[in-house]
Amino acid sequence: MCGIVGYIGNKEAQNFLLEGLSKLEYRGYDSAGLAIYNGEAISVQKTKGRLADLANKISSNVMKGSIGIGHTRWATHGKPSDENSHPHLDGTEQFAVVHNGIIENYMDLKEELIEKGHVFLSETDTEVIAKLMADLYDGDLVSTVRKVAKRLSGAFALGILSKHEPNKLVAVRMASPLVIGVGEEENFIASDIPAILKHTRDVYILEDGEMAVITEGNVELSTLDGAEVNREVMRVSWDIETAEKGGYDHFMMKEIYEQPKAIRDTLAGRIRNNQVDLSQEIGLTVEQLKGIEKIQFVACGTAYHAGLVGKYVLEGLARIPVETDIASEYRYRNPIVDEKTLVVVVSQSGETADTLAALREAKSKGARVLAITNVVGSSVAREADDVLITWAGPEIAVASTKAYTSQLIVVYLLGAYLAKARGLLSEETMTELVTNLQQLPEQAEKVLAQEQTVEAYARSIAKHHNLFFLGRGLDYAVALEGSLKLKELSYIHSEAYAAGELKHGTLALIEEGIPVIALGTQKAVLDKMISNIQEVKARGAYVLGFAPEGDNELKKSVDEVIYIPVTHDLLAPVLTVIPLQLISYYACQERGYDVDKPRNLAKSVTVE
Ligand code: M6R
Repeated sequence: MCGIVGYIGNKEAQNFLLEGLSKLEYRGYDSAGLAIYNGEAISVQKTKGRLADLANKISSNVMKGSIGIGHTRWATHGKPSDENSHPHLDGTEQFAVVHNGIIENYMDLKEELIEKGHVFLSETDTEVIAKLMADLYDGDLVSTVRKVAKRLSGAFALGILSKHEPNKLVAVRMASPLVIGVGEEENFIASDIPAILKHTRDVYILEDGEMAVITEGNVELSTLDGAEVNREVMRVSWDIETAEKGGYDHFMMKEIYEQPKAIRDTLAGRIRNNQVDLSQEIGLTVEQLKGIEKIQFVACGTAYHAGLVGKYVLEGLARIPVETDIASEYRYRNPIVDEKTLVVVVSQSGETADTLAALREAKSKGARVLAITNVVGSSVAREADDVLITWAGPEIAVASTKAYTSQLIVVYLLGAYLAKARGLLSEETMTELVTNLQQLPEQAEKVLAQEQTVEAYARSIAKHHNLFFLGRGLDYAVALEGSLKLKELSYIHSEAYAAGELKHGTLALIEEGIPVIALGTQKAVLDKMISNIQEVKARGAYVLGFAPEGDNELKKSVDEVIYIPVTHDLLAPVLTVIPLQLISYYACQERGYDVDKPRNLAKSVTVE
């Protein structure tokens, strides 16, 4: 996720901007840049790479001036490069803009601006904002910003500097975070509190649809419609480490809570007129989509579990045979692949060595490769034929959470898109799926609200050495993910079983008091699932059941229940996994282990 900083005051802006950006490094970035008004013009320096590269560049050409904006970019539209780095300028260099978020209608705006003669230098969505500022400039910076904001759809936090009114900075927030720091004879803008904490603890947190006009001695808040906003300054008591984690104790918890937003962002721009539309991202023609004879999901760990869900979803919706492979096994099993095979590699980091090797194997055998990844410009993204980005933002905790749910969202979108292209999805089913998809962020929030119940359960099972997860169909796929999460965080041994398979051997392990988590969200197999629960209950298991809200059956067979909001069966995994993530988190905490950095594990596994 990009980082924004801004400074206006009586000191050299460059110092704060570089230092502030360094405090946002934990958000992840691939390039950085500053724009500072030097008394005559806006000077810009930016580069692909680390902040140290930018500081190096600047050291030979110091940037003078006491008003400026800075940015660390985490590539979304366009690869990491000097040109795509922020800040972006309009053609006459009157306006400089830094942006965090995604402008969904940037293609339309870009076309319109090109027709009017604006020349674009980057592949970014952000550059349209700088060009729009120049295009709509009416002699007043603030009113122009309001006009520009009205033309944008999507998520945007903006820092804007103008040569026309160099005594002010404008900050705008729409669905991407932004705070204003209030100092003495200096004020600040930042994406996140750690950037300003060394200078001030007094902040305004902007709300969606609000803007701030900041001068050296004043901060004025208003809505984008022009209404005044009166808000008390908030005094931050967090230390810098807590601030980086957004007030949470760990990155993992922050990322668990970011899931409603990650789902929203991953859906954004991909549903038009109630239809899933991936045509701007996938180069395959309808004829090619119709010609796919087989799909292979290939991935590791959590991403592999997303691929397992993919099998159910794509076979269910698009009626194409799907295999899901562990990447490290794939190329050694001599897979049957040809040009009619679509290989879907799934990777949060886009750098996992096994996944990359599998991608190359598939390509060498003639398959078309589609990547689902969270990192624009990653190796997997560069080498695949088509890419669908999961807009989860950087995931820092080793245990994957928001990346997984975002991967599921992309899988659903892909399933609906393929099914539609192949003439297998009725308008009615498409509408049902789209409606249910759009409800997921709010439903995820509802699930998160059950945190306390989940915590109590997790702490109670933390003393056990073994645990079982049971599920049927998609619940089995989620059970595997829940079990992986529990193992990697709490080091409790657990196994996930297809509930019907238990009696073929593993039932022998069920004994008095053993915790069993039984997922019963799949309505079509609920009765069978209840029978399986009774099998373990009869042997003394203590069962936590997951049931759809309104359930009156499953709850009779279990010791405790977690309720999952009602959705389309295919979409349930997005909601079911959240309490499982929380159980792992709290079991880990109860056992006193490191939540964000489990032993023996790395965030990105770049060796085979
Ligand atoms: O970056 P990737 O998605 O390719 O990583 C794959 C796995 O290493 C990863 O999902 C791992 O299983 C998770 N950290 C588990 O939480």
